[in-house]
Amino acid sequence: MSTFVDNDQRPLGHGRMLRKEDRRFVRGRGTYVDDISLPGMLHLAVLRSPVAHARIVGVDTLAAEAHPKVKAVVTGAMLAERGLAWMPTLSGDVQAVLATDKVRFQGQEVAFVVAEDRYAARDALELIDVEYDVLEPVVDVRRALDDDAPLIRDDLEGKRDNHCFDWETGDPAATAAVFDRAEVVVRQELVFPRVHPAPMETCGAVADYDRVEERLTLWATTQAPHAHRTLLSMFAGLPEHRIRVVSPDIGGGFGNKVPIYPGYVHAIVGSMLTGRPVKWTEDRTENLVASGFARDYVMQGEIAATRDGRILGLRSHVLADHGAFNGTAAPRKFPGGFFGVFTGSYDLEAAYCSMTAVHTNKAPGGVAYACSFRIAEAVYLVERMVDLLAAELGRDPVSLRMQNFIRPEQFPYTSRTGWVYDSGDYPRAMAEALRIAGYDELRAEQAERRSRGELMGIGVSFFTEAVGAGPRKDMDMLGLGMADGCELRVHPTGSAVIRLAVQTQGQGHETTFAQLVAEELGIRPDDVDVVHGDTDNTPYGLGTYGSRSTPVSGAAAVLAARRVRDKARLIAAGMLEVAPEDLEWTKDDSGGRFDVRGVPDTGVTIQQIAMRAHGAGDLPAGVEGGLDAQISYNPDNLTYPFGAYICVVDVDPGTAVVKVRRFIAVDDCGTRINEMIVEGQIHGGLADGIGMALMEFIGFDEHGNCLGGSLMDYLIPTALEVPDWECGTTVTPSPHHPIGAKGVGESATVGSPPAVVNAVVDALALYGVRHADMPLTPSRVWEAMQGRAAPP
Ligand code: CDP
Repeated sequence: MSTFVDNDQRPLGHGRMLRKEDRRFVRGRGTYVDDISLPGMLHLAVLRSPVAHARIVGVDTLAAEAHPKVKAVVTGAMLAERGLAWMPTLSGDVQAVLATDKVRFQGQEVAFVVAEDRYAARDALELIDVEYDVLEPVVDVRRALDDDAPLIRDDLEGKRDNHCFDWETGDPAATAAVFDRAEVVVRQELVFPRVHPAPMETCGAVADYDRVEERLTLWATTQAPHAHRTLLSMFAGLPEHRIRVVSPDIGGGFGNKVPIYPGYVHAIVGSMLTGRPVKWTEDRTENLVASGFARDYVMQGEIAATRDGRILGLRSHVLADHGAFNGTAAPRKFPGGFFGVFTGSYDLEAAYCSMTAVHTNKAPGGVAYACSFRIAEAVYLVERMVDLLAAELGRDPVSLRMQNFIRPEQFPYTSRTGWVYDSGDYPRAMAEALRIAGYDELRAEQAERRSRGELMGIGVSFFTEAVGAGPRKDMDMLGLGMADGCELRVHPTGSAVIRLAVQTQGQGHETTFAQLVAEELGIRPDDVDVVHGDTDNTPYGLGTYGSRSTPVSGAAAVLAARRVRDKARLIAAGMLEVAPEDLEWTKDDSGGRFDVRGVPDTGVTIQQIAMRAHGAGDLPAGVEGGLDAQISYNPDNLTYPFGAYICVVDVDPGTAVVKVRRFIAVDDCGTRINEMIVEGQIHGGLADGIGMALMEFIGFDEHGNCLGGSLMDYLIPTALEVPDWECGTTVTPSPHHPIGAKGVGESATVGSPPAVVNAVVDALALYGVRHADMPLTPSRVWEAMQGRAAPP
């Protein structure tokens, strides 16, 4: 068990410390968007399409308008008159704010009502009469490009099919050459099904438009307040400086709150029309059916190797379902996200991937659900293919991985698809996982159980993530470069406030960013306040997703603190009447100080320096008053955390129920700021991964009806489905991050699904099962045991 240090007693800086934000959360004092209540506030409800594909013949709103509590009813036609019916997506597509011509997925927004209370708004939706001319939908991604497939995006001029985009990476000729000479080639189709981030808090907004000042304040559940403000300004024509986006406490994002949703725009239009604040809050079904989904990749995997197990090449073609509108959030140069990292942790000779993305009559999305832009899909592909190769060669999956790992001395390592991995020691992490698991004993136990017909499986996965997008030369969203600002102010008494471009959604930034500053300045973390999630009060940056906060904003915070310290040195030199270079920075549990070199305890504390920076008396020539710094940090590279996971399952031969007995996770995210928070991030991600592997699935019937629209159908894991996690650590610092930290928030979500699937397939070896697609529900496992492991 972990031990905690009382925050008042703990030393400065990095290390395990209780979360500062929990003081308000455990007392029920958090402020989420739905807690915002303004005088005169109205409520908004959205009428959604019951069908997946239909032409809108007419919308009759008269009865709804006559409802005594209704203040406005808005249709797509009304928005079209004002040029607001379509808005840009983060992927350069357009999406209907309200449908005008057609509906293109079940749950699409058709009209909205603004009323005096939430109940009246919902009641009035029943009074709107929409006539639909139902069209045949495109549901199966494999059928989307058929000649006779119905055309979904006839709103786009000249569009003749459901093609969305093509993308490729790697070297096709070199890859074909290694496949030609390989002694062993293994092929498998792998489906990573459509899943949903399903954050605890659904999406919502409160818009308050001041008609006199022509100012908009938008409280919204956004993971990227600054980027959203810019896009709202460009789309709605409001000057950017008169828009304030506030993202207060957020109940989980996981990528779901990166896109701009029509509901945000509805709330803004509702407030402009009525002159009153307007609140919109999704219910659970709306969130699951109509907001950003994740994954939905059909991957053809091919791996080539020598008979003695040296992996030569990897090749894949991906069919990507992007739904009706391309609502992914990926840097512009990377329409397939960071799927290019699909060569994983292995030193191969060649690799090639091609991708065809298509539209279907499903909700827009393809968001990075707790992964850095499609890395979960990439890791799943390579880790399943390596296991399939191990099975083909009759090799242990650990020894095959060990044989092919990128070796520690090869870092920085340029992958065959052009990514520069910053640092790593993969054999060490794997060895630690084996040690914790007692791998040899587990294999012995498995052999013994197998002899009795019991289905015990041991699954191994090893992942490398790429997190911390930028750098801005390579990465932008709709032309906005991926760098992060940070401002640090030290008050006269030596306490500080740091203003960040990123925004916590539960990851504990108010604690870890305070720790970063505290460590650098020699003050207590409790003396550092973190301000975030408010565009009026924070510097510009592209937001929190893809585990980018620590690699980008974390670096910005450290560098800003170091600038403050540099200035403090000049001021201290003036106070002590010595040259700055004669001063030595020291820090112990009582705080930070500059001492005259070689003369301990003669110097001045950071608090004394702060007071002098703001106080009476002269400062050294050329030094301005105050002790502030600001920075916009553009990372040199991504950071590449990694980890070794081992999952042990038991499959009931009678019911095909999978029970996860043990899960061992060794993570390396470089220097850890707060061990407890890192563990929490890993525990949550592992639960996510078990959910995806065994339970979570947004399915559709042949009419395009979403079958995963409630938490009765879309199953997410509870404490009953997950084991006690067994975590281990190795630390391989990032060479380009100022404290060597790499991101960690999404590692476990990325690394765990293949470990679970590999374990289940291993358990089913007695039945000759080679592969079965997620989610490995009892019925899917049962089918596999009967030799029917068909894709969904
Ligand atoms: O961008 P996001 O906050 O989702 O992901 P992250 O940068 O991986 O950070 C998740 C949480 O773990 C934050 O509170 C980080 O400061 C903390 N963390 C840490 O303490 N040490 C690391 N090496 C990485 C993250």
